[in-house]
Amino acid sequence: MSLRLNIIVAACENQGIGINGELPWRLREEMKYFSRMTKATKSSEKQNAVVMGRKTWESIPDKFRPLPGRLNLVISSRAKLPWRHIRRDPGPEFSGSTVCSSFKEAIDKVHSRTDEVESVWAIGGSSIYEMALESEHLHRIYLTRILKDFECDTFLPSFDPKKFQIVTDPVVPNEVQQEGDITYKYEIYEKLK
Ligand SMILES: NC(=O)c1ccc[n+]([C@@H]2O[C@H](COP(=O)([O-])OP(=O)(O)OC[C@H]3O[C@@H](n4cnc5c(N)ncnc54)[C@H](OP(=O)(O)O)[C@@H]3O)[C@@H](O)[C@H]2O)c1
Repeated sequence: MSLRLNIIVAACENQGIGINGELPWRLREEMKYFSRMTKATKSSEKQNAVVMGRKTWESIPDKFRPLPGRLNLVISSRAKLPWRHIRRDPGPEFSGSTVCSSFKEAIDKVHSRTDEVESVWAIGGSSIYEMALESEHLHRIYLTRILKDFECDTFLPSFDPKKFQIVTDPVVPNEVQQEGDITYKYEIYEKLK
């Protein structure tokens, strides 16, 4: 069965996604959108997987991780440590997640569980987005465009818009959103076959 990989990301006008290990903005409704989209499944018997880099995992406050209702896969070179350190006990800092040594290993893990997992969401940061953009499994990019510049140290890798078409989804609002003094809009790019 073919695997559907989606990217979900919020980026500001200078393509920034993060600063000092955190998000550059606080957008409650946008966070709820992230949660809703990454949790939603057509089958009530299945859940989705979220794939993230170690720093993104660490950016999630303890009380919110692992992200509930989703299989959490964290990519870290620490997964290459001798099996006795990592396989039995990846350490309390990874509790509730599955640690993978590479993006491919994460995708292979999901492939072996397609009876339980419906879709995979790449949720950042930069290098995970880069690998997801190159993946044969990439289906859609759910991009929240934040209509403002923020100081950032982490950025969304560029992608070729000619390889995608903009699509709509009934569960994704079309109109510009506003929270405080920040406006943003949801866009969906679907990979052309
Ligand atoms: N705006 C958004 O939508 C969004 C989404 C997600 C994150 N963010 C922000 O982005 C920042 C974090 O992103 P980031 O790009 O700095 O880091 P990241 O991608 O989350 O994590 C980087 C780490 O992932 C591991 N990793 C990445 N590629 C690997 C590979 N090929 N093989 C093995 N391990 C690999 C390494 O962990 P080890 O060092 O353990 O080996 C690496 O140090 C934060 O500021 C966060 O708030 C924003």
